[in-house]
Amino acid sequence: MKHSLVFGGFWAFFILLSGSLVASYDGPLYDFSAYTECKAQPEEPLYQGGILKDEPPIMKPAIIGKTATGFYTPAFLLKNLTLGNLYCFSTWIKIQGANSALIRASLKTENRTYNCIGTVLAKNGCWSFLKGGFVLDSPSNLALLLFQNSDDKDIDITIDSSSLQPFTDQEWRFNQQFMINTQRKRAVTIHVSDQQGNRLQGAAITINQVSKDFPFGSAIAHTILGNLPYQDWFVERFNAAVFENELKWYATEPDQGKTNYTLADQMLEFVRGHQIIARGHNIFWEDPKYTPAWVRNLTGPDLQSAVNSRIQSLMSKYKEEFIHWDVSNEMLHFDFYEQRLGPDATLHFYETAHQSDPLATLFMNEFNVVETCSDVKSTVDTYIERIRELERGGMYMDGIGLESHFTVPNLPLMRAVIDKLATLRLPIWLTEVDISSSVGKELQGVYLEQVLREGFSHPSVNGIMLWTALHPKGCYEMCLTDENFKNLPAGDVVDKLLKEWESGEMKGVTDEHGSYSFYGFLGEYKVNVGYGDRAANSTFSLPRSDETKHFSIHL
Ligand SMILES: *[C@@H]1O[C@H](CO)[C@@H](O)[C@H](O)[C@H]1NC(C)=O
Ligand SMILES: *[C@@H]1O[C@H](CO)[C@@H](O)[C@H](O)[C@H]1NC(C)=O
Ligand SMILES: *[C@@H]1O[C@H](CO)[C@@H](O)[C@H](O)[C@H]1NC(C)=O
Ligand SMILES: *[C@@H]1O[C@H](CO)[C@@H](O)[C@H](O)[C@H]1NC(C)=O
Ligand SMILES: *[C@@H]1O[C@H](CO)[C@@H](O)[C@H](O)[C@H]1NC(C)=O
Repeated sequence: MKHSLVFGGFWAFFILLSGSLVASYDGPLYDFSAYTECKAQPEEPLYQGGILKDEPPIMKPAIIGKTATGFYTPAFLLKNLTLGNLYCFSTWIKIQGANSALIRASLKTENRTYNCIGTVLAKNGCWSFLKGGFVLDSPSNLALLLFQNSDDKDIDITIDSSSLQPFTDQEWRFNQQFMINTQRKRAVTIHVSDQQGNRLQGAAITINQVSKDFPFGSAIAHTILGNLPYQDWFVERFNAAVFENELKWYATEPDQGKTNYTLADQMLEFVRGHQIIARGHNIFWEDPKYTPAWVRNLTGPDLQSAVNSRIQSLMSKYKEEFIHWDVSNEMLHFDFYEQRLGPDATLHFYETAHQSDPLATLFMNEFNVVETCSDVKSTVDTYIERIRELERGGMYMDGIGLESHFTVPNLPLMRAVIDKLATLRLPIWLTEVDISSSVGKELQGVYLEQVLREGFSHPSVNGIMLWTALHPKGCYEMCLTDENFKNLPAGDVVDKLLKEWESGEMKGVTDEHGSYSFYGFLGEYKVNVGYGDRAANSTFSLPRSDETKHFSIHL
């Protein structure tokens, strides 16, 4: 039912877009469903089970499905897995023998073990939804998909409503493009008439997109100050920025009581001067390594008072300036402040930040949530649990930051994780996208393109920031250009996608209804209309909506 609705939208889109082009697609449509509540009964399997449709799990696979301590886990034997396919996996899991447990799905092929293809924080006595997936390095004739308790305690795992759906590369691309066409673009009809309301057929129309709705940007460092080539390069491309280090506590208050916002102020001046929005990163960083030495020296009331001044100072100085604040950075991995101030330290940070600027958008920011599922500290359900915990404490989070420091991306997993986070109905941003330097510059470009397409096409992602601030000595993990602003492969990818994701200039004439219709990327537009010796300029904005935008111009 849902599929046929989506399909209807798809046909309408192609027919409207180009009149004669009749595209047909009979491949699978990606199912964005996700559940984060533990249910009395599992839901129906996605894709009616996909290639697991008639494939019951082996409940007691001999030898291979055994845990270290001799317990059996359910498993699937998978035949003939194809190289190049993107496999989407989901299942419902119930456990016995513990109140809750982190269950990890993994895949063993002849050649390799894929340590984690999905996780779920399963509970006793009800069904939890695991969603993930994998892409193979080499084809496999016979593989085993199995489930393990991540702390290796013996518990009983039951699975139901499992599904494994392969997508070819082309099918995946089609699905991405479909989402981009429906979520990042919108139909527009411009009506041209005279003052009396008579339609004007044959009026010449020129349309230009002057700004983009979707925030796409990069980290900058103070190296951009006074560096005109760097500034020009940045402004030509991006509509959003984040300061790599210059707002961090160690940067703004290296010695207690001696705040220095000089660099942050100058960088803010630069972005303001070019109508670029900026994220505020970050108020606190839970990693003690990046906590100022003098703060590490404090405990009890002294630390509490330093923490309060930090929030007040930063947030009153920059009230209304930054679009987001990362309040408690990387709190799933580190707990410097909780260790010293008690378990409610983070909750207190968010409360105080909210009081300091009630309009500020307060984010969490975390790594290894969307990049991988192997990190037990930051699985998708762990993140969701932490957000719910803060909400139970009375603090409502305004947004979810996913750092996105990838090595080799696993796109089906990345998408599944975002699907699950999307159930919280909060804005989701990819906040620090890069690809590890360990893969080399060519592959950095290849993987970056995969990650950016995935982010831009996911309907729940509201913005993308790259972690590519340029320093004379290079970048954190990935640069877009060399020191002379000549593109590296990753820079080519960014430039290609920036072009692909803008409408450019469109020209046409109004039809017998006095109208001109087109599909445009969301953003601000300038229209110029000419009819005989009459002409007019106008502007309109195209925000996100499912409806066709109608806009009238009088000549
Ligand atoms: C394996 O899969 C490929 C492509 O999905 C298919 O063409 C082939 O017939 C399959 N082979 C077997 C033995 O099932
Ligand atoms: C294992 O990997 C090698 C090298 O990548 C590949 O040639 C071979 O086909 C793989 N084996 C199987 C059974 O897929
Ligand atoms: C503040 O920071 C700026 C930029 O790093 C530096 O030039 C200046 O000396 C600092 N001011 C003080 C009082 O330390
Ligand atoms: C930490 O505290 C000790 C003892 O009071 C003091 O000697 C030291 O200078 C302090 N270190 C920092 C970085 O403030
Ligand atoms: C419309 O704007 C263009 C420049 O963008 C200008 O050349 C033209 O004169 C303007 N026309 C009217 C009717 O204002």
